Amino acid sequence: MKAAEKFVLICCLFQGVLCREFSISLPESIEALRGLCVLIPCSFDFKEQYDEELQNSPRGVWYKGDSWAKHKVFSSKTTEDNKIDGKIIGDLYRKNCTTIFYNISESDSGEYYFRIVSGNLKYIYPSSLYLNVRASPISPSITLYKEDQGEVEDQNEVVEGTSVSLICSARSPCPFNPPIFTWNFPPEERKQEQNHNTRFRSSQLNFKATRLHHGLNFTCTATYQLQNMTKSAQSSFRLHVLYAPRNMSVSVSPSASVPLGSSVSLSCSSDANPAVLNYAWYRENREQIGTGKHLTISKIASTHRGLYYCRAQNQLGDQKSSVYLDVQCEYSSVFKYYINLESSFQT
Ligand SMILES: *[C@@H]1O[C@H](CO)[C@@H](O)[C@H](O)[C@H]1NC(C)=O
Ligand SMILES: *[C@@H]1O[C@H](CO)[C@@H](O)[C@H](O)[C@H]1NC(C)=O
Ligand SMILES: *[C@@H]1O[C@H](CO)[C@@H](O)[C@H](O)[C@H]1NC(C)=O
Ligand SMILES: *[C@@H]1O[C@H](CO)[C@@H](O)[C@H](O)[C@H]1NC(C)=O
Ligand SMILES: *[C@@H]1O[C@H](CO)[C@@H](O)[C@H](O)[C@H]1NC(C)=O
Repeated sequence: MKAAEKFVLICCLFQGVLCREFSISLPESIEALRGLCVLIPCSFDFKEQYDEELQNSPRGVWYKGDSWAKHKVFSSKTTEDNKIDGKIIGDLYRKNCTTIFYNISESDSGEYYFRIVSGNLKYIYPSSLYLNVRASPISPSITLYKEDQGEVEDQNEVVEGTSVSLICSARSPCPFNPPIFTWNFPPEERKQEQNHNTRFRSSQLNFKATRLHHGLNFTCTATYQLQNMTKSAQSSFRLHVLYAPRNMSVSVSPSASVPLGSSVSLSCSSDANPAVLNYAWYRENREQIGTGKHLTISKIASTHRGLYYCRAQNQLGDQKSSVYLDVQCEYSSVFKYYINLESSFQT
């Protein structure tokens, strides 16, 4: 083992005692909304030799600018000359510099640097936070979660019957004024609100996907209450539901009552997603007599009388539908003629 490695090892063993450096933990950037407050999570550390100094009523100061030119915008000690109204809500004695700036405006956008001042401990941390103050909120994001499958990447397809959740997540820069969520769906589809962390809020819509949800546009709106107005942002999500053939029907042209010797065409229709892969036609004896959406029988004979079944199938299943084909024999039309004749005599 080389000397340098040994040193690193020892150093790590005694970390916190021997090796503390000046460091700060800040988000790289924060999206804030004009007129709202913004919470800045912050914690700092310094060389152990300054431990005593921190007991000297520490003061946190925020500077705005860049690495060359910075100006003070906030200090936890004075209130009069603060350019930004705010408060350090973290406990500086415990190296927590978490800060809230109230009623932020667009001109407050920029790089922010933290400085700790306590006795001989006076240090401005070189890592900065970029505060981006917007006039309008950023649109929320909607993610689809499927039962047992977790987050669904890059797609919005779901098989009918699956329990799904749509989670709408929006930024919540100000903990006192989180966004209020609304969905364009009735409340029977259960919804919950939860916090995943301090800077985002979310709302969850849980339901079992049915084909009636296919193609629907789920819209989530996040509304922020500002001083004297509200601002909202929304996102939409189009759900694709895959389902087996449904709502089948068989139609007969020209009619289901066919004269001997004529020809007839049967058509099968169904609603399926993805579209029907194949159609098959059967008689009562289960003999397959054709495939395809249409079945044509030319030269109808009396043996053609009976039930005809159509079966439609896609990747998710199949469904059957039937129609009764009646063959009119010649005598029956003659018989009809007599009935008509009789009734005309009666009148
Ligand atoms: C810092 O203080 C804030 C506000 O009191 C608190 O929410 C947060 O958990 C603290 N952070 C740490 C690292 O203790
Ligand atoms: C918030 O800031 C705006 C613009 O800087 C100002 O006009 C307004 O009076 C402030 N509102 C409050 C409640 O401080
Ligand atoms: C979904 O609905 C929203 C609001 O009703 C609308 O603004 C948006 O254009 C719709 N999206 C699509 C893809 O139809
Ligand atoms: C809200 O207040 C600001 C100043 O604080 C004003 O400029 C704006 O017109 C007000 N908006 C409404 C909708 O009253
Ligand atoms: C079934 O199909 C018929 C005719 O194609 C249509 O009018 C009806 O709305 C469909 N029903 C459903 C539940 O899709």
